[in-house]
Amino acid sequence: MYKKLITDAVKEAVESLGFDAADINLDKPVVEAHGDYSTNVALKLFKTSGLPSSKSLEAPIDIGAARISAVVKPENIGYVQSPKELAEIICQTIKKSEKLQNIVSEIAVADPGFINFTLSAEALLETIRQILDQKEDFGKSKLGLGKTMVIDYSAPNIAKRFSVGHLRSTIIGQALYNLYVFLGYNAVGDNHLGDWGTQFGMILAAVEKNNLDINNLTVDDLEKLYVDYTAAAKGDPSLRDKAKVWFKKLEDGDEVARKMWQSAVNISMAEFNRIYEILDIRIDQTFGESFYEDKMDSVIKEAKEKGLSRESEGAQVMDLGENMPPGMLLKSDGTTTYFIRDLATIKYRLETWGPSLIIYEVGAEQTLHFKQVFAAAERFGWTEGLDLVHVAHGLFLFEGKKMSTRGGTTVKLEELLQKACQKARSVMDEAQIAKEIDNDEKESISSQVGIGAIKYFDLKHAPTSNINFVWDQALSMDGNSGPYLQYTYARTQSVLSKSEKSPATNYQLHTTTAEEASLLRSLVHFPDVVENAALTFSPNLLANYLYALAQDFNAFYAACRIADDETRLSLTDATGQVLKNGLHILGIKTPQKM
Ligand code: ARG
Repeated sequence: MYKKLITDAVKEAVESLGFDAADINLDKPVVEAHGDYSTNVALKLFKTSGLPSSKSLEAPIDIGAARISAVVKPENIGYVQSPKELAEIICQTIKKSEKLQNIVSEIAVADPGFINFTLSAEALLETIRQILDQKEDFGKSKLGLGKTMVIDYSAPNIAKRFSVGHLRSTIIGQALYNLYVFLGYNAVGDNHLGDWGTQFGMILAAVEKNNLDINNLTVDDLEKLYVDYTAAAKGDPSLRDKAKVWFKKLEDGDEVARKMWQSAVNISMAEFNRIYEILDIRIDQTFGESFYEDKMDSVIKEAKEKGLSRESEGAQVMDLGENMPPGMLLKSDGTTTYFIRDLATIKYRLETWGPSLIIYEVGAEQTLHFKQVFAAAERFGWTEGLDLVHVAHGLFLFEGKKMSTRGGTTVKLEELLQKACQKARSVMDEAQIAKEIDNDEKESISSQVGIGAIKYFDLKHAPTSNINFVWDQALSMDGNSGPYLQYTYARTQSVLSKSEKSPATNYQLHTTTAEEASLLRSLVHFPDVVENAALTFSPNLLANYLYALAQDFNAFYAACRIADDETRLSLTDATGQVLKNGLHILGIKTPQKM
C-alpha cells in the first residue's frame, strides 16, 4: 500500500522535471540499512536520456540537449554529470512536495544513483493496525477487479495413475489460483482431465483382447493394460489398427464403447477424488477433454473459413509459421487430436467467461504443444486482450531419482502422502512439541503438517525448476519448510493465548529493538509480495517471503519479552495473521497448536 504512494510521488517528481515516467520500479533493498523501498529511476533516466557515462564526460552536458526537447524542461534540471546527481535532484523534488511527509522518515541517495526510502515509525505502526483490522483480507488488492482469469491445472489422465507431475500441477496451480483471487480477479479453476483421445482406443482394445470386465479393474490395472498393449502394438501393427477402430467407435458414439469409457472415467475419478481429498484441493470446474467432443467441428469450420487449415495426406493441419511444426487438427482417419481439443477449449472459455488471462500449469515437456496452441489461437484472432501463459513446471525427483509410474520401483502417490503424515507425526512426537495435545487432534495436526510439508517443498522452488524431494528437508523443523512455518504460526498463537494482556489497540512506540524493527518492516511488504508472486506466476516468492518473516519472528521471540507488552503482542498477532494469510494462499493449513 505504501508502495503505490511512493511510486506515485516518484512519478510525479520526475514528470515535473520534464521526464516521461512510464514505469517506475520500486523494490525492497537487499540491505536493511538502505531503507524499505528503493528506486533505480535516476539510473534508468540517465541511461535512456542518451548521456555518455559520467566517467567519459569532460564537460557538463545539458541533459535537455540529449533528450527530445518537447518533454524536457532544461531549466528544471540544469546540468547533471552522473545518475547520482540526477537522483539528488529527483530526491529534492520529492521532498519539496511534502506528499510523503507522514509515511517516509528519510529519503536518501545511494551509489551509484539509487533513491532509498525509509518508512516512518507511524507508517509502520499503521501497518499493524491494518493487518489486525483487515485480518484475512490483509494483502488483498483491487488490481484484478472486473477481470477474469482461467487457470488450467491438475488435469490427470483417466485410466492412468495420478503422477507426481500432476501433483506439481495441482499444488502450484492451486496456489496461483489463490493468488489471483487475492488480487481481486474473478478466477476460474478448470481441471482439464485427459479423458479423451486415441489412448482410450488402446485401453478398450486391450480390455477386449484380454476378455476382461472393465468394471472390475483398478486404475493400476488400466494403466498396465495400456502399457502392455502399446508395447505389443509396436511389434504388431494390427493391434494399433484395432485401437484406432475402438477410438473411432467411441467418437462415433458407439454404445458399448461409451459404456466402457464411462467405467474407466468413474474408476479413475474415484481415485483422483481421494487424492484431492487428502490434499484438500477443490477445483471449480472439471470439464475434461471429452466435454469438447461436440465443440471441435466449429473450430474446423472456423479454420476453413479463415483459410488457416489445409489437407496433408488425408489429415487436416494448420501451419503455424517457420519456427514450428504444423498443428494437427484431424488425423487422416478423421479422429480428433489433443491439439484441436485445446483450441476448442480456448474458444469455449472465451465465450463462457471472457478471460483476459489463461494460465496453463502443465509440465515443461508440453512446451512445444502450448507454443503451437498459442500460435494457432493468435492466427484465429482470439488473443486480442487475452494473455496465454504456460507455467511449465520442471521434474519432481524423489530423493534423487525419477519417480516413474512404470516399471517396478513405483512409489504410489497416495502412499507418499500417507507417509508424509506419518513422518510428520513422528517429527512432532520426537520434538515433543505436541505434548499436551490428545491423540485425535495429533492425528489431524500431523496430516496438516505432512501435507503442508509436501506442498511447501514444491512451492518454495520456482515452478520451472526441477525439484528433488528429500524427506529431511521437507520435514525440517528449523529450515525452510512447511512445518517450520506452521510451527512459527502456532508459536504466535501460543504466545497470545498464554499472555494475560491483550494486544494493544492503541499502539505505543517505545524503544524499539532491532529485532522488533526488522519484523515490523517485513510485515509491510506482504501485499507487494502477493502481487508480484501472482503477476510473475511465482508462488515461490511468497513462500520464501514467509520463511524470512518466520525467521524474523523467531529472532524477535528470542530477543524480546513479549507477554507483558501490549505493542509486542499486537506485533505477534499481526505476524500470525500474515503467516496465516500467506500459508492459506499456498494451500497450507495453520493449526493453532503444534
Ligand atoms: N492431461 C494432460 C496431461 O496429463 C494435461 C492437460 C493440460 N491442459 C491442457 N489444456 N492441455 O499431460
